[in-house]
Amino acid sequence: MQEKIEKILEEARERIHEAKELKELDEVRVAILGKKGKITEIFKAMSSLSKEEKKQIGPAANKARNEIEKRISQRLAELKERAKEIQFEKETIDVTEPGKKFSLGVKHPITQTIEEISQIFMSMGYSIAEGPQVETVFNAFDALNSPKNHPSRDLTDTFYINENICLRPHTSSVQIRTLQSQKPPIKVISPGRCFRCDTPDATHSPMFHQVEGLIVDEGITMADLKGTLDTMAKRLFGAATKTKFRPHHFPFTEPSAEMDVSCFKCGGKGCNVCKGSGWLEILGCGMVHPKVLEVGGIDTEKYTGFAFGMGVERIAMLKYGVDDIRLFYENDMRFIDQFK
Ligand code: DAH
Repeated sequence: MQEKIEKILEEARERIHEAKELKELDEVRVAILGKKGKITEIFKAMSSLSKEEKKQIGPAANKARNEIEKRISQRLAELKERAKEIQFEKETIDVTEPGKKFSLGVKHPITQTIEEISQIFMSMGYSIAEGPQVETVFNAFDALNSPKNHPSRDLTDTFYINENICLRPHTSSVQIRTLQSQKPPIKVISPGRCFRCDTPDATHSPMFHQVEGLIVDEGITMADLKGTLDTMAKRLFGAATKTKFRPHHFPFTEPSAEMDVSCFKCGGKGCNVCKGSGWLEILGCGMVHPKVLEVGGIDTEKYTGFAFGMGVERIAMLKYGVDDIRLFYENDMRFIDQFK
């Protein structure tokens, strides 16, 4: 019996020492001190021993149990300490490590240009009107006084969905929607996408953007048109900008004009941007044709108005010195990042 206790003690010392995990240590505890543990078995077996033997074995077993208990609790403390250390190691944060870099995005130059133009007109009291990109042929052409044989109505110029529906070739169709849904005084601009059957090249794209403008009120004259658009040009291209109005023809305005701005690069002397002329053509405009006002049921004796339309890509190209319109649609970040 004495030997047995010695053996148990030896085994316990070794196993406790070698236990690497709390679970392993607990297994040792159960195997030695548990209900059916080896030491417990010794105590159970003692009832069959003689008095003499009990005197000898009893204290030895007690001693052994006390030692094992002590060793287990020591090892337990060690293992707990180690587990903590391992956890701390895992959770270490290197405060000297550089943070993640977030690169700030940039609005597309076309969006920026639309916003800049819109801001200028909003500061003059205009609000924004919207219309669909898929438009009726009536709103895109007929209601705008465009004759049936106008070249822009050709299948080779406009994308048709069917006889009556097309992809709008200009934002002027929003004029009709506005005239039919609002009463004078009307003062709106309408930025948006347009579509034409053009083969892409440096200055053409089948999809592009325009900003349309429309004002209808009592007593609106050509002087208002010129003052408004001159103000816009100075805000957009710089205070020194001059404007020039050349007679032109549009079916939906009478009289009609094209507006040129003095070249912001050379100031009018002539350079590569203005191709030596000193002027840059930037928009079409005119006094709204009475036939167009009538589509909206507007009293043409009482009210007059002016309208204008400009190509956003063209303005952005001039302003930022972009020489190929296709760059706007490639979404190459090396290009777009330059508009920060
Ligand atoms: N819609 C014309 C175009 O696409 C531009 C234009 C010219 C719009 C004169 C107007 C205007 O509102 O009055 O080229």
